[in-house]
Amino acid sequence: MSILITGGAGFIGSHTCVEMLTAGYDVIVADNLYNSSIEALRRVEEITNKKVKLYEVDVCDKYALRTIFTENSIEAVIHFAGYKAVGESVEKPMMYYNNNLISTLSLIDVMNEFNVKNLVFSSSATVYAGDNSVPLTEDMKLGAINPYGKTKLFIEEILRDLCAANPDWCVALLRYFNPIGAHKSGLIGESPKGIPNNLMPYISQVAVGKLKRLNVFGDDYETRDGTGSRDYIHVVDLAKGHVKAMAWALKNTGCDAFNLGTGTGTTVLELRKAFMDATGMDVPYVIAPRRAGDLAEVYALPDKAEKVLNWKAELNIQDMCEDTWRWQKNNPSGYECSSKSK
Ligand code: UFG
Repeated sequence: MSILITGGAGFIGSHTCVEMLTAGYDVIVADNLYNSSIEALRRVEEITNKKVKLYEVDVCDKYALRTIFTENSIEAVIHFAGYKAVGESVEKPMMYYNNNLISTLSLIDVMNEFNVKNLVFSSSATVYAGDNSVPLTEDMKLGAINPYGKTKLFIEEILRDLCAANPDWCVALLRYFNPIGAHKSGLIGESPKGIPNNLMPYISQVAVGKLKRLNVFGDDYETRDGTGSRDYIHVVDLAKGHVKAMAWALKNTGCDAFNLGTGTGTTVLELRKAFMDATGMDVPYVIAPRRAGDLAEVYALPDKAEKVLNWKAELNIQDMCEDTWRWQKNNPSGYECSSKSK
């Protein structure tokens, strides 16, 4: 029996492949390599000394999905595949709705056809409405403000309806806070195309000399130092959360949401300083205007995941910075510098 991981060649997907393989699962990956690299999977195999079978397919393609389910005995699915850039989603909403929703609907249909009813879905803290107080708990008001976030929210709603109507299904909705860091080996990490949108890859590209300076988006928020505060979580901790969520999904029925965060907020300037302290590198910065849509402070109450899934984040900000830097300095252009990259 195998676990199908859609988007398994991406940042969180590749780290989850490592942890699932280490936990003893067989892993099949479906990925169209649109925003990911085949080299990541080669390195997953190097880290784990185990094989990963890749289907280079689009998850919107039901025929291709049927081939995977016909050729393999799939027990359950972890669904990562999807577009994820907030800014791009505002400019090209239909691209996001078409891809993220149709891929999920196709996947559910084919899972139903093959009687596979256990799913772990890659959701996001972005599904929470902006006027909640922090820390965020799973029962708080939902309401995304950009098309990317809305695709996550709509998919959550679809999966809740699916489980309500089909009590033999089990779905874990994992609401990630801000995943950063990289595998300790320095072999896999985040490899964004073009100029990074997110803070940590931006900081590490300044440190490695690819970008000149960090733009700090606003210093007049109501936080410790005026800069935005987020709940950064090590991607390896996050990946381990998927292993626990899969164990839960294989044993239960129904649909439930879980915050995967640390429960602690770190500001932009605190993360910059932690990175410089952990790496000895300089990260020059300027204060820039606020970025549209940003909140002052976002962090999780992760107690439900601890209680129900028996999962808790273990790595701290220093680990996140050191591991990001090991990956960045060994792979200054991400997977692009590898001859086997795609
Ligand atoms: N920031 C900067 N400069 C940058 C980039 C970011 O100052 O160059 C600041 C932001 O203003 C924010 C913080 O750093 O205060 C974190 O920003 P990120 O873009 O790294 O992360 P976000 O919290 O905005 O968004 C992330 C993911 C989304 C997800 C969301 C969930 O990118 O996909 O978390 O809360 F939806």
